[in-house]
Amino acid sequence: MDGGMALTVTFASGEASRYPVAWLTQHAYDRPRREQRVAAHVELWDASINAIPHEDLPALQADPSRLASWLDGMRRYGCAKLSGGRAEAGALFEVIELFGYVRETNYGRHFDVKTKPNPANLADSALGLQAHTDNPYRDPAPTVQLLYCIENSCDGGENTLVDGFAAAVRLRREDPNGFGLLAGFPACFAYEQNAASDYTRASLHSRKPMIALAVDGTVESISFNNRSIAPLSGVPYEHMIAYYDAYKRFARIIDDPTMTVSFKLKPGEAFLVDNRRVLHGRRAFDASVGGSRWLQGCYADIDGLYSTLRVLRAAAHGSASANRASNRCDEVS
Ligand SMILES: [Fe+2]
Repeated sequence: MDGGMALTVTFASGEASRYPVAWLTQHAYDRPRREQRVAAHVELWDASINAIPHEDLPALQADPSRLASWLDGMRRYGCAKLSGGRAEAGALFEVIELFGYVRETNYGRHFDVKTKPNPANLADSALGLQAHTDNPYRDPAPTVQLLYCIENSCDGGENTLVDGFAAAVRLRREDPNGFGLLAGFPACFAYEQNAASDYTRASLHSRKPMIALAVDGTVESISFNNRSIAPLSGVPYEHMIAYYDAYKRFARIIDDPTMTVSFKLKPGEAFLVDNRRVLHGRRAFDASVGGSRWLQGCYADIDGLYSTLRVLRAAAHGSASANRASNRCDEVS
């Protein structure tokens, strides 16, 4: 250890490397397991959350520091809102361009959420939708979802958000065995689309736990969607009744109004969710008495969002290389 509070290691070859104590502390690998069982940067929330991170789109486009702060809010809370966008088809891409790239699927680069007669997808009806993660039948599922409002003058149609990590932590506290079953055995998800649709024909299947844990036991992702769950495969017979009990209990937690934030988007407003964590839903709306509701949605990748956040922070500190060197492998520090 030298006088500058750094450890200098001299290798047999004669080469020496110097490691500042602050760097060594930041990269300590024997961190204690956290009781909360979520990553350190995650801030759990419920209906009492004062404000979801919310910004103005033109301000985000003009001010990198505000963009970094908004993206950091997305990292901490798993969701973020914005306003001030154009109420026009295709304007949603301006939001994705803030931090990354569209992930194209069989729905195309984007999809429209409009009321349609005899819809193939319930999202295109006027019915309410239970909070869910999108597309769990894909492997990997999209990690970021954007929903952008163009028209919303019907009665109802509020969007809802639920922190899936908070729901999982609550399940673990209230029913540890049920948590273990949902984390320990896979669920199955499926999506079948025939050719008689607006969307490309597809047959998508995946098998993953509803509550996925990282190797250190932290909750890593939630997959919950009652419209695309498929027959189970891999849950032992003796656990099946308890598994369904746990599934119902998890659903009741997700449906609990004390867990749910709701808001009605205005034209030109939008929200993003980390689709691994935050579930989104919708209250029913009534288009029969007038008004219209038209949202556009698309997917993107959370690693691109985190990358943009790191680059913005590095630029703000004037040293991209220093920032890269200081980042832990599992989070944006
Ligand atoms: Fe959805």
